[in-house]
Amino acid sequence: MKTIIEQLSIGQMNKATIKKAGDILKSGGLVAFPTETVYGLGADALNEEAAKKIYAAKGRPSDNPLIVHVADMEALAIIAETISEKAAIVAKEFWPGPLTMIFKKTSAVPMGTTGGLNTVAVRMPNHPIAREIIRAGGGYIAAPSANTSGRPSPTEAQHVKEDLAGKIDLLVDGGTVDIGVESTILDMTVEPPMILRPGAITKEMLERLIGEVAVDKTLIDPDSKKAPKAPGMKYRHYAPKAELTVLEGELSQVVKEINRLTEEKTAQGFKVGIIATEETVEKYCAGNVKCIGTREDETTVAGNLYGILRDFDNDGTDLIFSEAFSTGGIGSAVMNRLLKAAGQHVVYVEE
Ligand code: TXA
Ligand code: MG
Repeated sequence: MKTIIEQLSIGQMNKATIKKAGDILKSGGLVAFPTETVYGLGADALNEEAAKKIYAAKGRPSDNPLIVHVADMEALAIIAETISEKAAIVAKEFWPGPLTMIFKKTSAVPMGTTGGLNTVAVRMPNHPIAREIIRAGGGYIAAPSANTSGRPSPTEAQHVKEDLAGKIDLLVDGGTVDIGVESTILDMTVEPPMILRPGAITKEMLERLIGEVAVDKTLIDPDSKKAPKAPGMKYRHYAPKAELTVLEGELSQVVKEINRLTEEKTAQGFKVGIIATEETVEKYCAGNVKCIGTREDETTVAGNLYGILRDFDNDGTDLIFSEAFSTGGIGSAVMNRLLKAAGQHVVYVEE
């Protein structure tokens, strides 16, 4: 299959490209497009055969359910059995936006989309290109991140091309995404509602609105033997080819230890990469050092994380050492993805 690539800018939305995307989706094809979190790989969510193609293109395990993307609240009512008062409040505040909610599904949603579950994950993105494409494609678009299963999620069209060229019908290139980590997933089928995946909409933001919000324990405790409630969270995901180690502790000690390890491993012949921050980047003396953003504003770190992991792959890196990040605000989402990419390999640096 030849993948068509078309560029689209938010300011000047080319109607012909949107129509092409919509027609492909309505006829059961695959279209990758930007959202504000990461690029998504879209298919008609109500067409089981179309949804199946997503699993094939990504090499995704079939028990890992897809998120259905909608553009308005009317669409939600068709696919969600019940919309609780709390869900309505959260939707009013954070939709469109980087938040996914889980509901009991109606019979409109095929099991092939939900991986056999009787619940459905729904998100209303706020990226103008995503919204136009969802509408043009019939209003219900299943869209996982547009990467090969197990690789870092795509934050620019080039990443999608690397993974999926030749496997999808159309790639709409809308430039670099805004947030860079996937949406927060909030399970509204339990009380209190539970975060299954941290993202840009944080626990604190949700609690201010609806009171107590729980967090799936398997996300907090990496040693937990229980399977995470979001099936996708059980896989070693977001992973670069290199072996990644996260170093936690007092920052100057972490820098010292990364310098020591880099020297040692370089001498043994390994190609070493370092994930540094604006605050520390000058302090590294060897290795392939990449600055991921500033600690003053961790949204910068979220925005660069997946791109940097892919860059290290392209550089042929063997080992990556990364500083740790805070666990408040979007820092929770960053650490969650970083630790998964590291296969939970963390070193605590003692003073
Ligand atoms: O930001 C995002 O959410 C991006 C963009 C493209 O919208 N999409 C995305 O989809 O991250 P994906 O497929 O890469 O991740 C979906 C996650 C998986 O961990 C999956 O297991 C979980 O959502 N999920 C989907 N439906 C679920 C359900 N009914 N119950 C529990 N978890 C569910
Ligand atoms: Mg994904």
